[in-house]
Amino acid sequence: MSAQNETRRLTAPDIRARKGGDPLVCLTSYHAHTARIVDAYCDVILVGDSLGMVMHGLETTVPVTLDMMILQGLAVMRGSRRALVVVDMPFGSYEGSKEQAFASAARIMKETGCGAIKVEGGKRMAETISFLVERGVPVMGHVGLTPQAINTIGSFRAQGRDESDWGPIEADARAVAAAGAFAVVLEAIAEPLGRRITEEVAIPTIGIGASVACDGQILVLEDMLGLSPRVPKFVKRFGELGPSIEHAIKSYAEEVRARRFPGPEQVYPMRKTKA
Ligand code: KIV
Repeated sequence: MSAQNETRRLTAPDIRARKGGDPLVCLTSYHAHTARIVDAYCDVILVGDSLGMVMHGLETTVPVTLDMMILQGLAVMRGSRRALVVVDMPFGSYEGSKEQAFASAARIMKETGCGAIKVEGGKRMAETISFLVERGVPVMGHVGLTPQAINTIGSFRAQGRDESDWGPIEADARAVAAAGAFAVVLEAIAEPLGRRITEEVAIPTIGIGASVACDGQILVLEDMLGLSPRVPKFVKRFGELGPSIEHAIKSYAEEVRARRFPGPEQVYPMRKTKA
């Protein structure tokens, strides 16, 4: 039995139905407490495998494991109530076969309670996406710059900057949509290409350095908060938390060293013992 006024969580079909409607607001989160704040303003929270670089200081997302994704997915589910939580399938957990992809997706969904998963790749992933969707796994696609392919593409540079390169990226987005994905992330692609794909495909496009014409936008939370030391060129910083955290830590260190913290007003008074 569920409580009457419990907030209903958005589902993959709810997000799918937003094609061409109000822009979808999406952010990443990896923790319960940031998820709680993000949840109040966002339609989708992505537990991105970018957590490997952002939380763990890795150079790429390649070493991220299924267990890491599940642990942070659980934290985000605990912290949120309304947004659709999408958990990234990490490198090596789905590319081997459709069956491997299903086993990994099932683990993520059972162990976190999230509402969908995300896979990188276009045409090459289409068969796997259909296989998952037919078996009850809502899938978000991800085309354009696919960071898990860093070792074959060589850099995190934007894709499709020459019009002659647009064809394969468009074909990837179309394949993901035709395979049954409920939405697709377009990462770091030329603006007119993002606009064109958004007009062409029947599912919502979620842009990250793509086009304002996309059906929604996503950013890595720590990047937009000004916490990440290096961010891609397209990232707009909506806050400057890095300097503000540093200032707070410096003040604390100064007070501890000067024996000013904790001040007398913060110390528990000693209880008088009864005679
Ligand atoms: O891992 C991630 O955070 C992502 C977003 C950049 C879309 O895939």
